[in-house]
This record gives sequence, C-alpha cells and structure tokens, in this order.
Amino acid sequence: MLTVVVGMQWGDEGKGKVVSGIHHTVSVRMNGGPNAGHTVGGIPVHQVPPGFIFPSTHLLIAAGSVVDPFKLRQEILRLLHDYSIDVRHRLFIDPRAHIITPDHLARDASEEHDRIGKIGTTLTGNGPVHADKYARRGQQIGSLPRDDERVRDLNLDDVREQVLDALDFGGHVLLLVAHGTMLDIDHGTYPFVTSSHCTAAGGLAAVGLPPSFMRHGHSRMIGVVKAYTTRVAPGPMRGEMKDADAHTIRELGHEYGTTTQRPRRLGWLDLGQLEYAAQINGPDFLVLTKTDVLADRDKVSFVASSWNDEAEPIIKFVKGWSSTAIRQTGDLPAGLLWLIGRIEERTRARVSQVGVGPGANDVIRLATVP
Ligand code: IMP
Ligand code: MG
Repeated sequence: MLTVVVGMQWGDEGKGKVVSGIHHTVSVRMNGGPNAGHTVGGIPVHQVPPGFIFPSTHLLIAAGSVVDPFKLRQEILRLLHDYSIDVRHRLFIDPRAHIITPDHLARDASEEHDRIGKIGTTLTGNGPVHADKYARRGQQIGSLPRDDERVRDLNLDDVREQVLDALDFGGHVLLLVAHGTMLDIDHGTYPFVTSSHCTAAGGLAAVGLPPSFMRHGHSRMIGVVKAYTTRVAPGPMRGEMKDADAHTIRELGHEYGTTTQRPRRLGWLDLGQLEYAAQINGPDFLVLTKTDVLADRDKVSFVASSWNDEAEPIIKFVKGWSSTAIRQTGDLPAGLLWLIGRIEERTRARVSQVGVGPGANDVIRLATVP
C-alpha cells in the first residue's frame, strides 16, 4: 500500500498528526529540508521522516530532498536523548539528495537581508542549495568521501529501490510531501514560495516513482486541510483575519512556526484556494484538521471566490458551532457539516476525517479510507 500525504494550503495543516494516525512500515520524506517542521506524536522534527514514532519503521530521505547533516545529526541525537527513540539504524538518505553547506546558510541570510520584498525564508539555506542544485554546481551527499565527518555516521541507500522493494513485499509506504501546495515553486504564490515542488506529483518525482502508481488499487492520496488558513511569512493570502480574531485563533491553535517560532498569519478558510490545490494534487480524500479551534463563534467566515478571480475576494459566513464534545459523526454540528459539504463540492474529494480536538483520538471518521 502506498499513501501520499500532501498539504493543501501553505504548510502547517497538521500533516504530522494525520501521519501519526496511519501505521506504516516505510516513511519517506520527499522534498525540502530543515525548513519544514512537523509535529508528530507531540514531537517536533524537521528532517527525520514522520514514521519515527513507529519503532521499526524505515525512515527514508528521498533524492529530491536537501539535507543539512549537522542539523540532522542533532535531531537524531535529540530523539535519542529526549525521547528514547533510536533512528540511527533505520534512517537512510538517498545519495542523490543535495547537501546544505555553511555557505548556503550565509547566502540565505545575506540574500534575504538584501531583498526588497522580503520572502521571510526560514534561513536554513533552502533557496541557495536549490539554486546550486539547478545550476548543476551543487553537491550530492553520495559524492562526499565516506570518511567525511558530515556523512560518516549516516546511512546512504537508494530510496527509490527501497520503496519499490517495500511495496513488492507488501509493506505500507507513506510519502510525506513537506510544506504545502501554495508554497510550490511553480504553482504557489511565487516568489513567496519555497524552492522545491510541494505537490503530490512533485513528491513522486522527487522519489523517482511514476505517476501511474497512483492509479493502482493500493494507492491513495490524502490532502490535509486546516479549517482556516495560516502562512508564516509575507505573500498573498485571501480572507486575512482582523487582529482580534487572528490573535484569538493564533493562541487557541498554537499558530507559531515550528522552525522559526514566528507568529503565523491567520486567514479564513479559502474554498477557491482549496479548489485550486485539489486541481493540482487530485487527492482521493481530505482530512480536515483543527475545526475545534474555530468553535464557539456566532459565525465562521470563508472565502468563496475562485482562486484566479482578480476581483476583491468574496467572503461568506456559515453559522458557528460550539465546542461541546463531538464524539461521533452524529455529533457534528450543522454549520460544520455544511462547510464540509462545500469543501467536497469544490475539491471533488471526500472528507474522510475531521479533527475536533488536539488529542490523538479527537478525530471523527466520515468515510472508510481503504
Ligand atoms: P524557505 O523554504 O526557507 O526558503 O522559505 C520560503 C517560504 O516558505 C517562507 O515564507 C517560509 O516561511 C515558508 N516555509 C518553508 N517551509 C515551510 C513549512 O514547512 N511550513 C510553512 N511555511 C514554510
Ligand atoms: Mg510545519
């Protein structure tokens, strides 16, 4: 079985929590590097693939990723010392992944400093390492001598082959596309984007898997949608909340960057943006996260107009819902169900799960996901 998990907004949709509820035997990080932050089982990570919480799951970093070996080593040791999770013998990096050097970090900082319209990068060297990669002057991790201190204690292996082998042997491979669709280098809000492909197809390409894989019966693509919008840094975002709402929801939803601790910008759910992200990714199912964060309001706003509509965005409202315990499908309040219906209409994908609280079990299942 192959599961692809992709963020439908600007990252931070709650992919980590969704992934922690899907037991898998092989966990693949497809793109990006230490710029991403995922909270899995309450543990924040940046480069270690999310399946680390399952004790024997293989953890693979794909060819299309970038790796900061110093930060990766720190992360591996932190998991070991703070959480008694040992990933050392089950983490493998594709030799073709590009390596982030101190020069990339320095360039990220100086380019961001000199930039007129700031992108608000995470200063992890992400832009410069991809610039070097595409200019064909980058360094693949497999090209370093084996005794180079940066790779001495890391395992390198062909991730594409490991994925194919695992699928042949009936394993469950989960591919996590880092960041979110709207940060994609081609289809996101350029130039306020990251430097990799953060779409499902881009993720498959980053591993070296054919798109036709998604057609066979044992593959599924899950798009993760937060019940409102956040983005960490400058760039277009429709339906941005007024300060008072933004403040409340930021605190309730803990909307601070995992990598940079910056307060995230807050906006209402944008149905036009989701429609666009669904066209690009083609998810089979959607998981709607953090609906509890919007509870106890008279009304909940959302953006209704198409993403490519140049006019002022059209904002509409739905009756709010209360935070009283939602334990089963029948408890889902009318306003929320109505909004789920609109999401399904616009994305042509079924909402299979709804997050109704922070706990691992605070999830209502609406559709049986194969
Ligand atoms: P970079 O990826 O560090 O170059 O940053 C480019 C833009 O992408 C900035 O706006 C970052 O805040 C944003 N970004 C990068 N990775 C993530 C992520 O995992 N979640 C949310 N925003 C991200
Ligand atoms: Mg994140």
